Amino acid sequence: MLTHFLAAAALLSQALAGPVPNRVDKRAADVPTQTPIGPAGSSGQLRGSKSLAGYDSANPVDYEDSTVIPQDEFELASAQKQDPDLGLYLDLADVENPQPIRGGSQAPTDPGPRDREIERQNPDLYAPPGTDMGGLPNAKWPMGLSHNRHGLKNSGYTRQQNTDELPVAKAMAGVDMRLEPNAYRELHWHSANEWSYIMNGSVRVQAMDEAGRVFVDDLQAGDVWFFPSGKPHSIQALESGVEFLLVFDEGDFSEDATFLVSELFQRNPKSVLAKDLRVNTSAFDNIPEGELYIFPGTPAPKNISEQNSTGPAGIIPKANTYSYHLSQQQAYEVPGGSVKIIDPVTFPSAYNFASALFTIKPGAMRELHWHTTSDEWSFFLAGQGRLTVYMAPDSGQTFDFQAGDVGYVPVPNAHYIENTGTEDLVYLEVLQADVYNDISVAQWLGLTPKQVVQDHLGFSEDTLNRLPKIKPFIMPGDEDLLQTDFREERE
Ligand SMILES: *[C@@H]1O[C@H](CO)[C@@H](O)[C@H](O)[C@H]1NC(C)=O
Ligand SMILES: *[C@@H]1O[C@H](CO)[C@@H](O)[C@H](O)[C@H]1NC(C)=O
Ligand SMILES: *[C@@H]1O[C@H](CO)[C@@H](O)[C@H](O)[C@H]1NC(C)=O
Ligand SMILES: *[C@@H]1O[C@H](CO)[C@@H](O)[C@H](O)[C@H]1NC(C)=O
Repeated sequence: MLTHFLAAAALLSQALAGPVPNRVDKRAADVPTQTPIGPAGSSGQLRGSKSLAGYDSANPVDYEDSTVIPQDEFELASAQKQDPDLGLYLDLADVENPQPIRGGSQAPTDPGPRDREIERQNPDLYAPPGTDMGGLPNAKWPMGLSHNRHGLKNSGYTRQQNTDELPVAKAMAGVDMRLEPNAYRELHWHSANEWSYIMNGSVRVQAMDEAGRVFVDDLQAGDVWFFPSGKPHSIQALESGVEFLLVFDEGDFSEDATFLVSELFQRNPKSVLAKDLRVNTSAFDNIPEGELYIFPGTPAPKNISEQNSTGPAGIIPKANTYSYHLSQQQAYEVPGGSVKIIDPVTFPSAYNFASALFTIKPGAMRELHWHTTSDEWSFFLAGQGRLTVYMAPDSGQTFDFQAGDVGYVPVPNAHYIENTGTEDLVYLEVLQADVYNDISVAQWLGLTPKQVVQDHLGFSEDTLNRLPKIKPFIMPGDEDLLQTDFREERE
């Protein structure tokens, strides 16, 4: 009843006020359309004649100029001449004037405008394998396209990827941070959990929990730390400087929106701060103006025990400590590469962060698989590779990656990662899971009754016998298995 009454009242008031325009009528705006008086050296008119609108018999279209690029003005990589469904990697690095061709025809050619460097780095977008189909959300973000926020006095920088850069990455966001020797990422805390992998150099990290237990450790390239949400911590580069990766368990996390000790002290009344610390207000005469964020510091004492400022609650026990010396972990070696898994099984404080650090030899690949419970956030540390995301029911798209790129595959989409270069491909997979998990396609079929597999896929006895019963993780490159030699020089 009440809503009827309100609706009627709204109609009545509209009727009394006359017609309400539902949008601004831009035509009514008083915009001068004549060419203004221009600066010295200007000529012509800003707008063309009204007679150019619609059919224009006076000016027939010029169709003589061909957009087709003649065959002698471009090259094809040899893999471009193969069956598109073979989907061989197209190495366009040294190809003159690359074209988006698969399957050996002379078309389509690309008259431009174009950015050849981007196309060369992403040949599977430019000339997709014949097996790609449908549309998928973008799975790649190069950190080199992120805004680089610089610290104070050249002390470092940070660049990030969150849902602003990669909208599909809803569960995790990443940061690449550089601290020059002795520089700090200031004392801070934040809503998300923070998992970090050190890419270069060394660092001292320090934190405290709710019970007043403390943590301090020195870490080097290849090590990992984890700071649970809300726990205050600081990060200081040792004298070598440091660069590390941060992964947060909120896709829209912004590294620019953390809680900072410098702001905490600027955003509270000084009388309150004085009462809080039982000091004279003059104690705050030298607090910083503005954020410190990343700033130069005095060198950390070499002897870490000097910074072990424990209280009665002591230290955070080793069973729940915030660091893991992954650089010291022996890798699991398989033909084609190696892997180190780190998850809460051995690093319990890193609640819900399960990660695998893969090294894939040239020609080898991380096997076709999917994760059962989590999206995958990945970061390419060295080399180059590609992956195809298969999403139900019928979409597939292939993306190419170089060192410094972020990749993202939503659960439970299937994917592989193939080394497409001549150096080792090193990359991290990060999941939101208490145990690293994946389903191996090869093992799945190897452990499914042969008759069932044969009825589905029509495999020969020989193919059925090759299917593994053990999870391979990585498949070595074996060029004899390919129908063509994709490394053959282009003609
Ligand atoms: C760290 O960076 C330096 C300078 O580029 C380089 O020489 C060194 O190989 C890097 N170390 C690692 C572990 O990547
Ligand atoms: C605070 O310190 C200033 C400067 O040292 C001093 O003049 C003032 O009396 C002090 N105030 C109190 C309440 O102690
Ligand atoms: C800090 O002190 C505790 C004892 O309170 C000790 O167990 C721990 O190893 C010390 N850590 C360092 C880095 O010296
Ligand atoms: C390091 O510092 C601790 C605590 O101050 C001290 O007991 C220890 O002797 C120092 N070690 C060295 C090698 O100086």
